[in-house]
Amino acid sequence: MRSKTKLAFIILLFAVFNLMGSLHLMAQTVWVDELDLSTMTQGYGVPSKNKSLDGNILTIAGEKFDRGVGTHAESLLTILLNGKATTFNARVGIDDEVKGQQPAAEFIVMGDGEKLWSSGIMRIGEKAKSCSVSLAGVQKLQLIVSDGGNGNYYDHVNWANARIETKGATTFETYNPIVSEPYILTPPPPAEPRINSAKVFGVRPGSPFQFKVPATGVRPMKFSASNLPKGLEIDKESGLITGKINTKGTYIVTLKAKNAKGEAKKELRIECGDKIALTPQMGWNSWNCFAQEVSADKVKRAANAMVESGLINHGWTYINIDDFWNNHRDSDDPSLQGELRDADGRMNTNERFGDMKELVDYVHDLGLKIGLYSSPGPWSCGGCAGSFGHEEQDAKTFSEWGFDYLKYDWCSYGNVIDGLPDNDPYKVSSLSYNGGGELETAKKPFEIMGEYLREQPRDIVYSICQYGMSDVWKWGGSVGGNSWRTTNDITDTWKSVSGIALDHEKSAPWSKPGNWNDPDMLVIGHVGWGNTHPSKLKPDEQYLHMSLWSLFAAPLLIGCDMEKLDDFTLNLLTNDEVIAVNQDPLGQQATCVHTIGDLRIYVKELEDGSRAVGFCNFGLDILDIAYNEFNKLGIDGEQTVRDLWRQKDVANIKTAKDDLSLKVPAHGVLLYKFTQAR
Ligand code: GAL
Repeated sequence: MRSKTKLAFIILLFAVFNLMGSLHLMAQTVWVDELDLSTMTQGYGVPSKNKSLDGNILTIAGEKFDRGVGTHAESLLTILLNGKATTFNARVGIDDEVKGQQPAAEFIVMGDGEKLWSSGIMRIGEKAKSCSVSLAGVQKLQLIVSDGGNGNYYDHVNWANARIETKGATTFETYNPIVSEPYILTPPPPAEPRINSAKVFGVRPGSPFQFKVPATGVRPMKFSASNLPKGLEIDKESGLITGKINTKGTYIVTLKAKNAKGEAKKELRIECGDKIALTPQMGWNSWNCFAQEVSADKVKRAANAMVESGLINHGWTYINIDDFWNNHRDSDDPSLQGELRDADGRMNTNERFGDMKELVDYVHDLGLKIGLYSSPGPWSCGGCAGSFGHEEQDAKTFSEWGFDYLKYDWCSYGNVIDGLPDNDPYKVSSLSYNGGGELETAKKPFEIMGEYLREQPRDIVYSICQYGMSDVWKWGGSVGGNSWRTTNDITDTWKSVSGIALDHEKSAPWSKPGNWNDPDMLVIGHVGWGNTHPSKLKPDEQYLHMSLWSLFAAPLLIGCDMEKLDDFTLNLLTNDEVIAVNQDPLGQQATCVHTIGDLRIYVKELEDGSRAVGFCNFGLDILDIAYNEFNKLGIDGEQTVRDLWRQKDVANIKTAKDDLSLKVPAHGVLLYKFTQAR
């Protein structure tokens, strides 16, 4: 009996220990600050354990926290839970260390691709919000902070007290679905000559003609052209075609380039008529890189880099000066001070620019073209002189200086609509963004400048900038515009680029040769609006950006520091097969014709009957699928499938029966061309 009692006691003890053990296993807390955060991505700096981004105590609206993660929007942490967690809890908000700035951010918790919780947009000084989310059955948890819609400047954000309750797990693995290491896809150009020009070029009768034959291959190279229309000649050394065509018409010219390795030929259709910019503009603009710090010297250096980097051999042509080339209404910077106009009312350049004609000639001598910026209001967006009341004179001045391009930016025109104090535009010191209201009011300032530009004795590409107000894509062409921005300013974040891309769809039917929808400049390379840094877009996001802008037939305007072009950026900018999609003479803008979850499939019909197709993965997981719904893409029969980034054929398929296997990186793209097999 005694021994039986003893045995029962031992069994009981064992059971109690076991129970305690499993109770212990059931009630684990895993703190996010204990996990491997090396896979976490963020817009600036590195994730900070138990501290704010700047290394201070985590503080949200005065409330202090001992634990948590300080990060910076856009940020992403992916945690593999494998169904072993029960809840996620945190207090979230913007850290007090950025007081005085205007950060805005949104905290988002995703489970297996579904949004489980969102904070809504939070601002500085807002109390920490409590997040408590059930994770029953969730395999993959994603903690995301997005930029809140105003760019990610000073978005120092905290996941305070962030922890996961588990059913026994004591830690979790983290991982990053978006590749961080740049990888190069564009093969180097061959040593033999290859002519990379667009197939068509538009000029008006009597306008000075300037077209540089872009060709890759070893130098020295000799250029020639047969069937050049009367009035044109080609420089054999540089490949620059100049002169003037007086008679309207279509001229088919054969371009030739020869070097020690061989000879290349390509047909160029010159359309001499009313239309210019028959393919989207390709060039560089100073804004995304220098912003208010631009100077003639920096512009010259960008132009030199365009030549020295070899970009000129791929068709990159325009060097565009944005805001801040003339005097400012009230800047403290001495180099921006001075009379806005001379005694005859002619616009003055500021001290940093001085002799504009000299700069224009310098750029032209390199075989490039050059662009300038102004506003229909009294002030530019940055507060420099605008063209209001001087439109005719300014168009003439820009033309006399020799400019080939004008970006005309709405900004303070809202003041004109609002009514000017004492009828004196120069008394207006603040910007009014009144968007124009009535259609005629919105169109008027662009119509005025459009007409004056058209009167000039040279072709000036007219780039309208008013951020897509009043459905500009529907009427931009009728006021003489060659392109028009469809959205607000771009920044180098996934949110900005993907948001603009999704929004761009609406304008597609209006894209055509000479009339381009402009989703704003490229944010690859070193960008930064006066203080540059490598683009915050991940490599796959940059491939997607460049692929979509090509599919969209968007103006391709490089926004980076041209003296800091790295191999990865050059690889993005020198893929002639990708550029050819952008420059296709049909001028069609791709639209998304088929969606499978986060996979958006864009199709652009090309002049030769083939189709460029972008399989674009907007999601956070690699997509591995066998695709066979070709009828949705308007593709059938036997097709050769070419990977344009890799410049190689990857499949030959019969659409009725074959699958195409696709592996699309997260936030990445496969850009293919489908051609009817012969
Ligand atoms: C913005 C425009 C930018 C840049 C800037 C100059 O309105 O969208 O691209 O030109 O003005 O101040």
